[in-house]
Amino acid sequence: MTDQAIYQTDALIAEDIDAYLDQHQHKTMLRFITCGSVDDGKSTLIGRLLYDSKMIFEDQLAALENDSKKVGTQGQEIDFALLVDGLAAEREQGITIDVAYRFFNTEKRKFIVADCPGHEQYTRNMVTGASTADLAVILIDARKGVLVQTRRHSYLCHLIGIRNIVLAVNKMDLVDYDQKVFDAIVADYSAFATSIGIESFTALPISGFKGDNITALSANTPWYAGPTLVEHLEAVEVISSADAAKPLRLPVQWVNRPNLDFRGFSGLIATGSVKPGDEVRVLPSGKTSTVTRIVTMPSGPAGASATGRDGDLDEAVAGQSVTLCFADEIDCSRGNVIAAADNPPQAADQFEATLVWMNDDPMHVGRAYWLKLGSQTVSVTVQQPKYAINVNTMEHIAVKTLDLNAIGVAEIITDKALVFEPYKDNRALGGFILIDKLTNATVAAGMIHFSLRRAQNVHWQATDISREAHAALKNQKPAVLWFTGLSGSGKSTIANLVEKKLHRMNRHTFLLDGDNVRHGLNKDLGFTEADRIENIRRVGEVAKLMADAGLIVITAFISPFRAEREMVRAMLPEGEFIEVFIDTPLAEAERRDVKGLYKKARSGQLKNFTGIDSPYEAPEHPELRIDTTAITPEQAADLIVDRLLDGA
Ligand code: ADX
Repeated sequence: MTDQAIYQTDALIAEDIDAYLDQHQHKTMLRFITCGSVDDGKSTLIGRLLYDSKMIFEDQLAALENDSKKVGTQGQEIDFALLVDGLAAEREQGITIDVAYRFFNTEKRKFIVADCPGHEQYTRNMVTGASTADLAVILIDARKGVLVQTRRHSYLCHLIGIRNIVLAVNKMDLVDYDQKVFDAIVADYSAFATSIGIESFTALPISGFKGDNITALSANTPWYAGPTLVEHLEAVEVISSADAAKPLRLPVQWVNRPNLDFRGFSGLIATGSVKPGDEVRVLPSGKTSTVTRIVTMPSGPAGASATGRDGDLDEAVAGQSVTLCFADEIDCSRGNVIAAADNPPQAADQFEATLVWMNDDPMHVGRAYWLKLGSQTVSVTVQQPKYAINVNTMEHIAVKTLDLNAIGVAEIITDKALVFEPYKDNRALGGFILIDKLTNATVAAGMIHFSLRRAQNVHWQATDISREAHAALKNQKPAVLWFTGLSGSGKSTIANLVEKKLHRMNRHTFLLDGDNVRHGLNKDLGFTEADRIENIRRVGEVAKLMADAGLIVITAFISPFRAEREMVRAMLPEGEFIEVFIDTPLAEAERRDVKGLYKKARSGQLKNFTGIDSPYEAPEHPELRIDTTAITPEQAADLIVDRLLDGA
């Protein structure tokens, strides 16, 4: 901000605080990210922006004042240096946790800048920062030119869908403000940008340290005609006119029903525009209605609804948060998408997507994760990646999984249809995160490319004989007795006894046993984590079909991972999945060593053996725990049968 502008702002605050607040409130907001290694001068640039805009946020200001009192100086340069040091130190501390967000504003705009660490091991932090950014400032040290880091950051920003790229060639003071140096870097970057699909960028020669071309054009670069960095940040389009021209998409964040007279659906308009009288379609149900009102107070229409339409709009466009009211009482809830009636988005349950893995625990092919896309949440499994991308060279590499910070392309399958659009067309309806079902950690960020056609023509076939009818004929309640425990814990022995007892009681049963199923249906699977996950997924699906047929299914698999056992539980109606933990300590199973496998595993002849060099995650809350060191297999079988019939 220029001194003149600061003076005007101060005068406005003094004279008319309401006018000032009004002006402030209606400023648009630009979110941007700064990329570059520490040496490229990121902290200095951010410090410069905060300092020049005189909008250092309060605690920083307080800290600064304390510090300057301590050193007894009030000089401008010292304060600036202190600020930069403070920012750098803060980022060092926060580096592994998250992204540092800074706020500042000028007379035209408010800004949020995400300051992310640049090293490859912090790719996930950068993706987090970039995911909400409208613009990226890619810093280059004029002495060094385009580096591997520059390429990686540019690739990530482009991948995440940032359309406004600023190439800030920094430290121009250290190359004597030489236009040739600047031009060479721009030409170099331009060639790279084109190769990865970046259509345009804005290049500026700056010095964050000296302040050249930050808020005022510098006399040191007479060959550069502008704009300054701040002018550019103030002028860049946040919501592109292209977004507003697209068909209406409004993901519903919540339903607003303060009283019986008012029912509205609130959310941020992702693309398009809407007017009262427009026909809209709610997805996935496909029901249509007409918009009657657009209310601007998303948190509650109390004032507006009582007195009239003060807060109502004649039109709302992409980027605005609004509440829509409909002419009809159609179903519409959180997670639904309101769209133009004649041009709705697709819904599908199989996609190709780019995934950025953000967790220490690598991706498990076949494991069920939660997928959150806007306000929609579904269960999803990920297939083996088609390839991963080397973010430094953009090469495609063959991989079996994705580790922390890896970026790859894979197919994903959801359990319910998702309303979506390709990420490149719509960030709000094409971007998602994956969440671990047990730890609730965000494990990946993803971007949908397209849906896979193969599922589109396969529909659920409604059958006439229901699962209830199947069970009724057998005069029993279906169930899945899911045994889990170490190899040699006694699962098969006890399961076998349980089946005999139930059979004698005229129950219709079927026993699925690990060793047997692995000779047929699952003979293509071994004992890697991925194969075990797939083993249990298939067995789960088979058990579910058998329960649908009215049977009491007994399964005896090690099933070492909690996540997959929980996945099978979720596939069945409440109460039908009975987890039976055959709790035999490792030492005891190894002592028995019925099949001689522990001996082989200990001597290194057998790899990935459960309990030895492959994990077993014991159930936390099984329906039944059988301590085989305390009771006989016969007693165990009685307990299990009692539990099953009690629950029936
Ligand atoms: S699971 O882990 O995928 O659930 P599953 O129950 O199907 O395993 O198969 C386990 C049986 O395979 C064991 O009882 C044992 O007989 C045999 N087996 C062979 N190799 C291994 C191994 N590396 N780890 C565990 N079991 C193995």
